[in-house]
Amino acid sequence: KKILFVTSEFADLVKVGGLGDVSAALPRALLSRHDIRVLIPGYQQILDSGVPIRVIGQLPGHAALPSCRIGRMDLEDGLIIYLVLCPELYERNGTPYADEQGRDWPDNHIRFARLGLAAADIAADSAEMHWRPELVHANDWPAALAPAYMAWRGQTTPTLFTIHNLAYHGLCPLECTPELDIPPEACALETMEFYGKLSFLKAGIAYADHITTVSETYAQEITTPDYGCGLDGILKCKVDEGHLTGFVNGIDESWEPRTDPHLVQGFSIQDWDGKQANAEHVERLFGLDADAGPLFAVVSRLVHQKGIDLTCQVAERIVQAGGRIAVIGRGEPELEAAMVEVGQCHPGRIGVHIGFNETDARRMFAGSDFLLMPSRYEPCGLSQMYAQRFGSLPIARRTGGLADTIEDGVTGFLFREATVESYMDAVERAMNVYRHPELLHAMRCKAMSSPPFWEEAVEPYNQLYHELLGTVHNAAL
Ligand code: ADP
Ligand code: GLC
Repeated sequence: KKILFVTSEFADLVKVGGLGDVSAALPRALLSRHDIRVLIPGYQQILDSGVPIRVIGQLPGHAALPSCRIGRMDLEDGLIIYLVLCPELYERNGTPYADEQGRDWPDNHIRFARLGLAAADIAADSAEMHWRPELVHANDWPAALAPAYMAWRGQTTPTLFTIHNLAYHGLCPLECTPELDIPPEACALETMEFYGKLSFLKAGIAYADHITTVSETYAQEITTPDYGCGLDGILKCKVDEGHLTGFVNGIDESWEPRTDPHLVQGFSIQDWDGKQANAEHVERLFGLDADAGPLFAVVSRLVHQKGIDLTCQVAERIVQAGGRIAVIGRGEPELEAAMVEVGQCHPGRIGVHIGFNETDARRMFAGSDFLLMPSRYEPCGLSQMYAQRFGSLPIARRTGGLADTIEDGVTGFLFREATVESYMDAVERAMNVYRHPELLHAMRCKAMSSPPFWEEAVEPYNQLYHELLGTVHNAAL
């Protein structure tokens, strides 16, 4: 079947977090079963990637959305990427969402409405690309207007909307309605109005034929006021109607500790030497004392979601108990500054690198004993699975996908409350395991074989695609 996967990140080319990883892995895992292609804005980084791009279509402007061209990139493994080429919207330095200082682009509503409308246009064959999807799968708020535009125009191609993070709504003032050509009836409570604004995310939820999110526990949590970000009412209705389900993410085949070329040295459960070599590398990189104490890693966006403030608070106690901590990530300036300060107070024991690169991140998963992930909420989380795969036991809050992918005391450690006490209790249990090498070995072995690969994790999506395609087919009979 022909499927268009609409996203704002794609790990090979441009990535801010887990959405990029999933967008690169899930379509690939489905390639043998479907003709699935990815649609993404033609950001500067992508144009600079050196992969040849052929222009294959043209789309007219609409309301305040400029006209654009559609480019095609053929990746080496056969995956086809369609790019929305619109220099005035996408060819800028910065991330997909923000400038180099971390300020959201002021025209994000136009930039991502353009993405959604391009998907709707492609589904209607307006670009004359001679390839028309039979299903459109949109991800998170930046792609959420795809199902909405399709519904407003009466297009019947089935749509699926996947929520990777409910906290990012993509809000803009109600006054933007004409700019985006949103019909007046769409600005209602049941559709995309959200406390006097327009919510892209809510439009995706309201108009898609089906909604998924990235773990079963998060699918339940988001129907409650605590985790629903103001959308628990509509999400509860979707669950009751059978239109919202949770499928846990997988990891891709590159997470192979024996052969991952990013690592200083490969390793396996029969041969831990390589893990030690990565640990020594991480010690040097972060200026940490070389000793026998446990090494804790933080590989995370430094944002409120991830409970970074809690880690700052327990850091001192971890150090007092003989632990060392290596931190890599970037995010909110205040949390970056707080982390840096904690590091400065404990030279040799805590090392902090603001920034991100994949090689260091992978070496940290491989070199550490434990990964700290005290997320306040976590739709799925990939870092804990990467850590498990590389024999680093996650210490995480029992929420969302963390609850679904970590078995407490077996493949990691879970704690319930977002408090220092609850967190420290899990850290102490981890330290205790560290002091018993046979226990540590047993848990590492279990953890390393626990994360599902996408090959397997993609099956529920495959079934859902068939169901959605079948529904429309039956309706047409
Ligand atoms: P989230 O998507 O909420 O950040 P996940 O655990 O699902 O959390 O995915 C995190 C992914 O992003 C991992 O591949 C991790 O290595 C990577 N990552 C973590 N921090 C950063 C960062 N500051 N910049 C880019 N990628 C990051
Ligand atoms: C989001 C979530 C994360 C999830 C990722 C991929 O960024 O925060 O929990 O793993 O999307 O689905």
